[in-house]
Amino acid sequence: MRPFPVLQTAGALPRPVYELTNVSKYYRGGGIVALEQVSLSLRQGEFHSVIGSSGCGKSTLLKIMAGLTPPSKGRVMLSGKPVLGARPDIGMMFQQATLFPWRTTLQNVLLPIEVRDGKAAAEAARPRALSLLELVGLKGFESVYPSQLSGGMAQRAAICRMLVSEPDVLLLDEPFSALDEITRDFMNMELQRICLERGATAFLVTHSISEAVILSDVVHVMSARPGRVVQTIEIDLPRPRTLDMATLPEFGRYVSTIRNLLDKGAFL
Ligand SMILES: Nc1ncnc2c1ncn2[C@@H]1O[C@H](COP(=O)(O)OP(=O)(O)OP(=O)(O)O)[C@@H](O)[C@H]1O
Ligand SMILES: [Mg+2]
Repeated sequence: MRPFPVLQTAGALPRPVYELTNVSKYYRGGGIVALEQVSLSLRQGEFHSVIGSSGCGKSTLLKIMAGLTPPSKGRVMLSGKPVLGARPDIGMMFQQATLFPWRTTLQNVLLPIEVRDGKAAAEAARPRALSLLELVGLKGFESVYPSQLSGGMAQRAAICRMLVSEPDVLLLDEPFSALDEITRDFMNMELQRICLERGATAFLVTHSISEAVILSDVVHVMSARPGRVVQTIEIDLPRPRTLDMATLPEFGRYVSTIRNLLDKGAFL
């Protein structure tokens, strides 16, 4: 099956912020082909997801987009400049909320600023950190330590830590996979709200088809190793998305299209 172009509509669309062109990644001197010829493009404010079987190269793709590892071939551009290393305009969130146990919630949230710009800058960012904590419902928990937070609260604090440096782009590697389904649904809706409010561009790695559909403007389905994008699907549901949209017939059609691709197409 051939990929079809993302967002075919002509006219006044925001210009692409992220552009990956023929990105390939080889490990062990070429012995492992983790990614093969991945090309994709994200526009300002769009939410994209990538879905595919374990080991197909999703985290590798995200690390390349974040500038944490270079592609073996191909090019990654963000806001017109090549991504050659970690950048302040990129926020990244990993699978586990790695808060430091000896720092309070607020101190954890301010850590990236402190590391990057020093203590004075972190102090100046306090009001922003506090309003972020309020935004995710952690007002009143600023001074407690991670051991006193639930898993979902720690994840919410980790979101604030990602957002405190005001990145334009959010890269999320299964950020809520450790959470129960109800908390996860809530966090996904929070994530959408934050993205819409801030006009942020987001790229999410997930194993969940329904999560990909409910959150995304565009879903990229990857093949098993070597990872390639076998199909790119536009999700034409209105925003803001709500959890009850999962009962819509269109929603069901998107889910079954992606499931079919993962069942067979992912091995094309
Ligand atoms: N640093 C590395 N050195 C060698 N091989 C690696 C390295 N990182 C990843 N790989 C290999 O590249 C392939 C893709 O790995 P990656 O972590 O990107 O998969 P993934 O799609 O994120 O999987 P999962 O869904 O299980 O998280 C795997 O075969 C993995 O073994
Ligand atoms: Mg991974």
